[in-house]
Amino acid sequence: MFKVNCLNPIAACGTNNFGENYTLTDNVNEADAILVRSAAMHEMTLAPNTIAVARAGAGVNNIPLDRFAEEGVVVFNTPGANANGVKELVIAAMLYGSRDILGAAQWCQDNKEDANIAKTAEKAKKAFAGKEVKGKKLGVIGLGAIGAMIANTAISLGMEVYGYDPYVSVEAAWKISRDVKHITNVNDIYTDCDIITIHVPLLDSTKGMVNAEAIAKMKDGVMFLNFARDILVDEEAMVKAVEEGHVAKYITDFANPTVVGKKNIIVTPHIGASTEESEDNCAIMAVKELRDFIENGNVINSVNYPRVDAGIPQYESRITVCHKNIPNMLTQFTGAFSKLGINVPEIVSKSRGDYAYTIIDVDAKATSEMTDVIANIEGVLRVRIVK
Ligand code: MLT
Repeated sequence: MFKVNCLNPIAACGTNNFGENYTLTDNVNEADAILVRSAAMHEMTLAPNTIAVARAGAGVNNIPLDRFAEEGVVVFNTPGANANGVKELVIAAMLYGSRDILGAAQWCQDNKEDANIAKTAEKAKKAFAGKEVKGKKLGVIGLGAIGAMIANTAISLGMEVYGYDPYVSVEAAWKISRDVKHITNVNDIYTDCDIITIHVPLLDSTKGMVNAEAIAKMKDGVMFLNFARDILVDEEAMVKAVEEGHVAKYITDFANPTVVGKKNIIVTPHIGASTEESEDNCAIMAVKELRDFIENGNVINSVNYPRVDAGIPQYESRITVCHKNIPNMLTQFTGAFSKLGINVPEIVSKSRGDYAYTIIDVDAKATSEMTDVIANIEGVLRVRIVK
């Protein structure tokens, strides 16, 4: 029986897909696997039997990826599963940023006691005149699942769309409309666009990338949308640029003391993926990834180990190994089985950065003698009998 702990509420339509060999536990210290949404895991020590963490969402900045990789814990995310939810909110933000929809609705609320509101409203409305997005230049920084969807929707709204992503995947690239202009220098987005939206992961290399220098390059009156992560932007510099009128509006989905309550800054409390559909999609995908890993040893959509898919085990046993990406590991694995007189009909191995993952299918019943031999090889982080 595999025990799974949910550190945050995870949609039941996902967790219901755990089969009869699984049980949900409230005790994280007995969990074989963990499902998480936004709970901070950096200070957590995992139980020795925890083999995997799946994040129901895309961003993984709440999880210590390298430390967990070092402990042989595979971390998954659910790329694309909530992309439509985020896309719809970003499009809405672009519209409520261009037209003062929120201010206008608030005016009606504030004047609810006015018996003549129908008449007063006709006079008041000029304060809420805005601009249309059609014909405006939209810059999309980051063309992953979310950025690509936003770029395409903006094209259908009649916008001129500039897309920048030096690391765009082939899969995402296929989905981007050919009407999106491919930009190779992010400065062109800063200098040319009327509205800019950022959709890159939070990494050491992207932290603070929208700094004072980048903001200074932007057009006067630009509107900047941040539905990715707050610390991608130097928000002190952004607030200053808004106060000076250089940036017309900063719209962010991340509430913090630097941005809340400021004029021309619209803040929502990280609701990008808070839709029934996105939560369901993320939960379903995360559970599917965990089951494939636990039952077959396959690693799909990991963020700290390589993708390794050996399908459903076809031989008598399957052993998986999380290990360092260092020379001579595979020779040592096959050598160990050969010494034990065991045939290895299939071995699949991939590396990613400092870590590697190997699936070994053997023609004999897996025993602790076999796993002990493998575990004792230097550089091996975790060995598991899958079948
Ligand atoms: C994500 O990282 O997938 C989004 O920010 C949504 C979320 O964290 O809930």
